[in-house]
Amino acid sequence: MTKDIITLSIETSCDETSCAVVKNGREVLSNIISSQIEIHRPFGGVVPEIASRKHIENIDIIVEEALNEARIGFEDVDLVGVTKGPGLVGALLVGISSAKAIAYALDKPFIGVNHIEGHICANYIEHKDLEPPFTCLVVSGGHTYLAQADSYTEYEIVGRTRDDAAGEAFDKVARALGLDYPGGPLIDKLAMKGDKAACDFPRVYLDDKTYDFSFSGLKTAVINYLHHKEQLEEEIVIEDVAASFQQAVIEVLVKKSIRLAKERKSSTIVMAGGVAANEGLRSLMGKRCKEEGIELKYPSKILCTDNGAMIGSAAYFNYIEGHLSPLDMNVVPNLELGYK
Ligand code: KG4
Ligand code: ZN
Repeated sequence: MTKDIITLSIETSCDETSCAVVKNGREVLSNIISSQIEIHRPFGGVVPEIASRKHIENIDIIVEEALNEARIGFEDVDLVGVTKGPGLVGALLVGISSAKAIAYALDKPFIGVNHIEGHICANYIEHKDLEPPFTCLVVSGGHTYLAQADSYTEYEIVGRTRDDAAGEAFDKVARALGLDYPGGPLIDKLAMKGDKAACDFPRVYLDDKTYDFSFSGLKTAVINYLHHKEQLEEEIVIEDVAASFQQAVIEVLVKKSIRLAKERKSSTIVMAGGVAANEGLRSLMGKRCKEEGIELKYPSKILCTDNGAMIGSAAYFNYIEGHLSPLDMNVVPNLELGYK
């Protein structure tokens, strides 16, 4: 029998300080997430300097909690993983410094993880039998990618956003509707009560050949609609606006994902990132996948948004495939999917 590999993993790329203990890349022994959302909410978005300071205050406590909940000590750790990028440079540096110190002190292998790859790996935790290759749709606050996962650590980007990320569009439209940050989950809830055909918002398919996305025109269309209604002093039904906007986003996401899966003869579509928690997207993608005989996988909601466990899973698979990082590794705030 091969020995279990215990990974201690740290995630501090944005506004969550998180540390997890993951066994063999798929089993979560602990996943402690300290969210700063309440601190950033009054500012309507994440304030980078505040995020870094809060990570510094929290990190040691979160690491200790993760070890305690997993009922292990530092001496049981085989591997240390940490988000290397993309993300806020100051925030990333806190996690990386802490992870390097732990790896150095324990004299254990150290892995810098691509955060977006981490989002995809959340699916290996949720679905124990999931194996590459598959088609994946990554929709987070900062990124929108359509990709083919060729192996546990190799991705081919087929499409990406040309402007706003899907989650960013949700957050900006929510702000225009007077909703709190982060607006994605609030729009999701309102949309359930609204009429998705109430407002005629654009579906940006770009041309037929590209798998790229564009959401900034849609955001502008919603803002123009709201201004127009205000000028006419007409009532705005916020549920209808939310439902119509959400439908315009998810129709494009679903259409392109299905087209890519069929083109590449993928039997599985995997969704990842914060927007993969969206009920409308889950339901429409589920319906279309069923019609096409494609299997659909996505993580439970807590594993969709930022967390340390997904980084632990990605670190494990990179370790298995020999992608170790040196202790003088630097942060890469603009790291793209497919790059180490
Ligand atoms: O993946 P994530 O935690 O952070 C990044 O790596 O960017 O994603 C956060 C994003 C935010 O934009 C948030 O509004 C969005 O995911 N989000 C949602 C939902 N839950 C989170 N968007 C739509 N519907 C949801 N239920
Ligand atoms: Zn993320």
